Amino acid sequence: MPQTKIAGIGHYVPDQIYTNDDLTKYMDTSDEWIQERTGIKQRRYAKKHEETTTTMAAEATKIALERAGIDKNEIEMIIFATLSPDYYFPGCGVLLQRELGITETEIGALDIRNQCSGFIYGLSVADQFIKTGMYKNILLVGSEMHSMGLDFRTEGRGVTVLFGDGAGAVILQPTTEENQGIYSTHLHSDGTHAEELAMINPGSHGGRHLGKEKYGYPDEANPGGVFVTQKMVDDHLLSPNMTGQLVFKTAVRKFPKVINEALVKNGFESSDIDMLVPHQANLRISQFVQKSLGLKDEQVYNNIQRYGNTTAASIPIALCEAYLEGKVKRGDLVCLAAFGSGFTWGSALLRW
Ligand SMILES: CC(C)(COP(=O)(O)OP(=O)(O)OC[C@H]1O[C@@H](n2cnc3c(N)ncnc32)[C@H](O)[C@@H]1OP(=O)(O)O)[C@@H](O)C(=O)NCCC(=O)NCCS
Repeated sequence: MPQTKIAGIGHYVPDQIYTNDDLTKYMDTSDEWIQERTGIKQRRYAKKHEETTTTMAAEATKIALERAGIDKNEIEMIIFATLSPDYYFPGCGVLLQRELGITETEIGALDIRNQCSGFIYGLSVADQFIKTGMYKNILLVGSEMHSMGLDFRTEGRGVTVLFGDGAGAVILQPTTEENQGIYSTHLHSDGTHAEELAMINPGSHGGRHLGKEKYGYPDEANPGGVFVTQKMVDDHLLSPNMTGQLVFKTAVRKFPKVINEALVKNGFESSDIDMLVPHQANLRISQFVQKSLGLKDEQVYNNIQRYGNTTAASIPIALCEAYLEGKVKRGDLVCLAAFGSGFTWGSALLRW
C-alpha cells in the first residue's frame, strides 16, 4: 500500500501587520501583557472587503501547486479546513475550486470544521483516500480570516489579541519511496466543553444550552424561529468567546499525550523527532509541551510571535516556513499536533 507524502507546500499571509501596540488604539491592552502571556508580537489582517478566506487559500495553493510540479486541473479532491468561511454555506471548498478556475473536472470538495485541529483532521482524511488508491493528487488547505469576526472592544481583548489571518496549503500524493510519507494520524474529541471556546451565533441552538433569554429570542416567532436577534447584535454575541485558563490547562495535557500516542504507535521516542510543528495556539503552551516531552529548541518550530493563532492555517504556515528555512528536510521525522475548540485534538507523524 502506498503512503501519503507532501509533494508541495505553500503559504500566504496578508500584507497588513498589526503589532500589539497597534491594538492599543482599539482596546485596553498592552504589548507587555500580550507578549508575556502568549509570546505574540504581531499578527496579519487581510484587506477587508477584498481578501477572503478563499482568496488567501488560493494564493497558498498556487505556490503549493508549483512546488509539487502539477497543474490545478490535476487536483482530484479539495479538502478545506476553516472556522471563518466566506459564507455560512456553501463551504469554502467549492469557492476555492471556482477561485482557482477548476471548471472542467468537477472534482469533489469537502469542508472540514474542526477549528485548530482542522488541518490534522483534513490530513487524516486525505491520507485514507491516498492509501486506498482513490486519489493521487489531493489539495488540503487551512485558511482563516479571523479579523472579520473579532470583537475589537476592550470586552473582546481576551480573545482578539490572540488571532490572526493567513493560509497554508499542501498537495498530497502517494509514494512508495522508502522512508517517506505519513506513518499514522490520531484524532480525538471531547464535546463536554464545546461552548468554552466557541462562536455559537448565529446558529440553530435557540438558547438550548445557555438559555433563551441570553440571546433575546422572542416568545412568539414564525415557525422557523429567529436566526439573528437584535440582542445578539447589541450585546456583541456574534463574536467568539473563550474560557482561556480551561483551554490552556486542557491543551497542555492533550498535546503531549497525542504526540506520545503517535510516537509509541510507530516505535519512536521523542528524541527521534527532527521537527515538531505544533498548532500555534500560544507560545507558552508550545514551551510547556516542549518541556514535558524533553525536546530541544531546535526540535520545535514556532512562529506565533509573527502571526498569532491562525487556527486551521497555523500548522501548514509553520510547516511551510520550517521547510523554507531548511529546518525540515527529506527524510526528517516530522510530528504535527493540534488542540482546539470542540475540544478536538490530533497528531500526525510523517517522514518528509
Ligand atoms: C488567553 C490567555 C492568554 C489569558 O491569560 P490568563 O493568564 O489566563 O489571563 P485571564 O484570562 O485570567 O485574565 C487575567 C486578567 O487579564 C485581563 N486581560 C484579558 N485579556 C487581556 C488583554 N488582551 N490585555 C490586557 N489584559 C487582558 C483580564 O481581564 C483579567 O483581568 P482581571 O484580573 O482584572 O479580571 C490564556 O488563558 C491562554 O493562553 N489560554 C489558551 C488560549 C488558547 O490557546 N486558545 C486557542 C486554543 S486553540
